[in-house]
Formats: sequence, structure tokens, C-alpha cells
Amino acid sequence: MTLVRLICLLMLLFVQTLCAAPSFSLDYNADCFRKDGERFRFISGSIHYSRIPRIYWKDRLLKMYMAGLNAIQTYIPWNYHEESPGMSLYLWEWEMGGLPAWLLSKKDIVLRSSDPDYLAAVDKWMGKLLPMMQPYLYQNGGPIITVQVENEYGSYFACDYNYIRHLTRLFRSHLGEDVVLFTTDGAGLNYLKCGAIQGLYATVDFGPGSNITAAFGAQRHVEPHGPLVNSEFYTGWLDHWGSRHSVVSTDLVAKSLNQQLAMGANVNMYMFIGGTNFGYWNGANSPYSAQPTSYDYDAPLTEAGDLTKKYFAIREVIKMYRKIPEGPVPPSTPKYAYGTVTMKKLQTVADALEILSFSGPVKSTHPQTFIDLNQAYGYVLYRTTLPVDCSEPTPLSSPLNGVHDRAYVSVDGVAVGILERNKS
Ligand SMILES: *[C@@H]1O[C@H](CO)[C@@H](O)[C@H](O)[C@H]1NC(C)=O
Repeated sequence: MTLVRLICLLMLLFVQTLCAAPSFSLDYNADCFRKDGERFRFISGSIHYSRIPRIYWKDRLLKMYMAGLNAIQTYIPWNYHEESPGMSLYLWEWEMGGLPAWLLSKKDIVLRSSDPDYLAAVDKWMGKLLPMMQPYLYQNGGPIITVQVENEYGSYFACDYNYIRHLTRLFRSHLGEDVVLFTTDGAGLNYLKCGAIQGLYATVDFGPGSNITAAFGAQRHVEPHGPLVNSEFYTGWLDHWGSRHSVVSTDLVAKSLNQQLAMGANVNMYMFIGGTNFGYWNGANSPYSAQPTSYDYDAPLTEAGDLTKKYFAIREVIKMYRKIPEGPVPPSTPKYAYGTVTMKKLQTVADALEILSFSGPVKSTHPQTFIDLNQAYGYVLYRTTLPVDCSEPTPLSSPLNGVHDRAYVSVDGVAVGILERNKS
């Protein structure tokens, strides 16, 4: 390999095309990325394929391209691809941060740590995923320029360097020595302390309200040289049940983006299009606050993929820094009024039990968890006969947050209240 490279380097002086082995790397002297030897800066946007129906992928990507982006960022959600152990890559955030619920079947597992059971599951999953990615790395003629190894690990309690070291070795063994591996953390030294590690390029994330000098200063503290990277520049924010739709000012986003690009920084806009948390894939934030189905995010492209003022404002900013594609931007999708949709009540849950649980009830002394019942999502009906007659109103609680999300409580078929995490 070395010999081939050397020959290519020499030949570059004469005919570059003869030896155009693709390369993508960090340049610590010039504080930038290099793509095929040339300075490269990405202006990128996040799009999560699992939050957008497949038929719309092309339209959304084309809109991103027309905004002037030269890269996209996406997650690969483990729980989405391996719904049960070994059922790998059944292709059809996030919920438990993208980790599969079945990991919890080992009661005392410490997620995102060097817990041997956790690492064994990670090794197996990555052993399947990373070899599939490997041919698509830029070095190998594909479109992937960088690969992220952990996300905001510095905000997680474990601070387990052995775990991050393990991931580094794992990614290197499957993807090779050349690929740029990176981490992302909040732009503060307290986050970077546990999130950054030698061998993984440390980047930061921050929104339009942040002090850019201070934020990149934090990155410079751990990476004195190399490209400035904001891996998650927040174009909007996520919603929570019971709160109003989050809105982040277009002017603020455009102004901050402009300042970052003027510094020569690489920026990934999180999200460029948020999309939808289909089914039960919506998660909850911490401290506990459930997210709704919509992941619109007040992003430059709406949940429906429509163009916004923010989209065009961002496009104008990018235009000042790179030549953006000419031609019309694909229009917003047509909308159709369906009129009033009437719904008909069919049966109560109790009426439909034979259909919903055809194998009959699971009987146990104590309530079993969803994991015990091998059910990662949806609803479980728990029933018991109280040993005493509670004729007086009696507070009901579930100790140790036994109810993680929400429970509808009824007595003799009559709704009496709602039980939520941290509440009685
Ligand atoms: C931003 O941060 C820098 C570096 O910490 C500091 O010097 C500057 O005063 C800050 N600017 C504002 C407006 O707070």
C-alpha cells in the first residue's frame, strides 16, 4: 500500500487523474479537512431515513442539495434494525436513544459502558453493520466521509474510557485506519471531559443562541489543531407533550450560521428535515418528558418536506460561501383536504381481549415488565383483585418508577385516574 501511495503522490505532480485514489483526512497543520488532497469544508444537514417514508427520500435530498449543502448526516438506529437479538438488519430516536429494548433483558446491564454483556451485543451488531458500510467509505469509492462513534457521551453518567477505547478499536478493525472517526459533545469542558478521547476527532454541538467563540474555544481545548466542527447546529428544537410547538427564529439561525461559516467552520444543521416518529418510535427527553409523534423540529424543511422562510434564508447564507446549484427548487408537496373523518367506536379493550391476547393472560405474583413479557412497545393490560376494599379515595403509586411512561387506571371498568412516572 505504501509503495502505491508513494507512486501516486509523485504522479500527482503530472497527471492527477491517473492516480486518483480517493482520500478524506484531517489536516492538523491547516486546520481543515482534505478531500483528495484539496481543502474541504462540509455544510451539511441531518436527515434520518427512519423518520421519512422511503418514497420521499429523493425529494428531500434534492431539496437539501438545492439549498447548497454538500453533505448529509444520518443516524443508523440500532433498535430499528435489530428489533430482537440476532434479527439483524430487518430493514423496514429516538426510542431508548436508538438502543434496542431487548438489551434490558439482562437486569443489571449498564448500557454504553464496558459491561461485557453490552459490549458483546455491540460487537455483534457492529460486526454486521460496519462491514456493510466499509465499501461505502470515501476511501473505497463511496460517499461516506466521516463516521461518528458515540454521541454526547460526556453527558452520560458512566464516563467509561474503556468503553470508548473498545469502540475505537472495533470501528478501526472493521473500517480501517484511514477513515475519520469522530465524537460529538456539548460545547463545554465538562462535557468534553468524558466524551473526547485520543484517536477520535472531538467535535462540538451548539445552537444559534450560543457564544460561537466560546463554543469553538471548548473544541480547541481538546483539539488544538484540525478543522472546527459543529456537528449539531440546532435549526429548531424538539417538541414535548403538553408544551407548545418549539420555534427557533430564522434570523437567529441565519446569523449564527453565517458567523460559523465566516470562521471557516464545518457545520451540520440538526435537523435539516426532522420528519416523523412513526409508531412507537418517539422517545422521551431527560428529565422525563415524552415526545410526540411529530419530529418537525421547526427545521428548514417541515415534517411534510415543505419549503420554509428558514430554508431560503439558509440558502442565501450558504450562497455567500460556495457556489450553489442553479435551477428551480422542488416545490412543496401538494395538499388535499380529506374533509371530516368520522370514527366509529367498535369495542373496548376488555371486550376485545380474546383478539388482542389470543394466547390468554400471563399470570404472575407480581406485575411483570414489558421486557419480561418480551414486548418492547405498545400496551399491556394489568389486572388484579384488590385484597382489601378501598372504599375511601386512596393514592396509587408505582414504586421505583415501575410505570415508566403512562398508565390508565380503572376500577371495575370505571376510569379513575392516570399514573405517570414520578407521579401518584
Ligand atoms: C463570548 O465568549 C468569549 C470567549 O469566552 C468572550 O470573550 C466574549 O466576551 C463572549 N461574548 C459575549 C457576547 O458574551
